[in-house]
Amino acid sequence: MVHQLLVPQQEIRTGRLVLTAVTPADIDAVHELFSDARTWTHLPAGRHTSRAETQDLVQRKIGGRVRHGLGSWVVRAADSGVFLGIGGVDLTAGGVWNLGYRLAPEHHGHGYATEVARAAVDAAHALLPDVPVTARVLTNNPASARVLARVGLAQVWQGPTRTAAPEGVACQAWSDRTLTPAQLDWLAANA
Ligand SMILES: CC(C)(COP(=O)(O)OP(=O)(O)OC[C@H]1O[C@@H](n2cnc3c(N)ncnc32)[C@H](O)[C@@H]1OP(=O)(O)O)[C@@H](O)C(=O)NCCC(=O)NCCS
Repeated sequence: MVHQLLVPQQEIRTGRLVLTAVTPADIDAVHELFSDARTWTHLPAGRHTSRAETQDLVQRKIGGRVRHGLGSWVVRAADSGVFLGIGGVDLTAGGVWNLGYRLAPEHHGHGYATEVARAAVDAAHALLPDVPVTARVLTNNPASARVLARVGLAQVWQGPTRTAAPEGVACQAWSDRTLTPAQLDWLAANA
């Protein structure tokens, strides 16, 4: 992974969190999180059932950061160093940032997702101010939508999801600004 050395290592400290680049050393912790049914209650089919799936995810995150200079972070508690989850922004093929977060269930409800999301929106704006920060959220996940609203995103679209979501669940796209028709089309096509 020599090319990783070409990208400045980022460590961001927020009030309670340390946010660092995802690395291969995080695969086991990320796999434990992504294979936990409690973090997939809104989309049970998304749960990772093999370590290879998590390895692919981590590799994609590393590749995105190398290409674009910013990507999702590993989230740890600043005081204890405990792994809390992952979150942040990844640049998509649709020319928009995708904001996402997944935290270990025992650490939900403390405002950590909001803290990560704020840092991610700030980092995205600082790096590429003209690129919208967007997110996709299922309608059965109000906690996630609440986080998006708290960090300044607003719902810009709702329609059918292409994920294997439970019956009757739709997808919403959220954004920090008005999107072009092409950006909206991309989000709807990848909902
Ligand atoms: C979504 C998730 C990241 C939220 O993490 P968190 O650290 O608990 O979030 P926060 O504490 O920062 O904020 C949650 C907000 O949702 C609200 N909330 C929680 N459950 C809710 C519900 N059922 N309905 C409406 N709002 C809800 C909370 O009150 C809080 O809002 P507030 O700060 O205005 O009170 C976490 O639940 C998670 O990891 N879930 C599994 C993965 C996931 O769904 N990821 C997002 C995929 S789009």
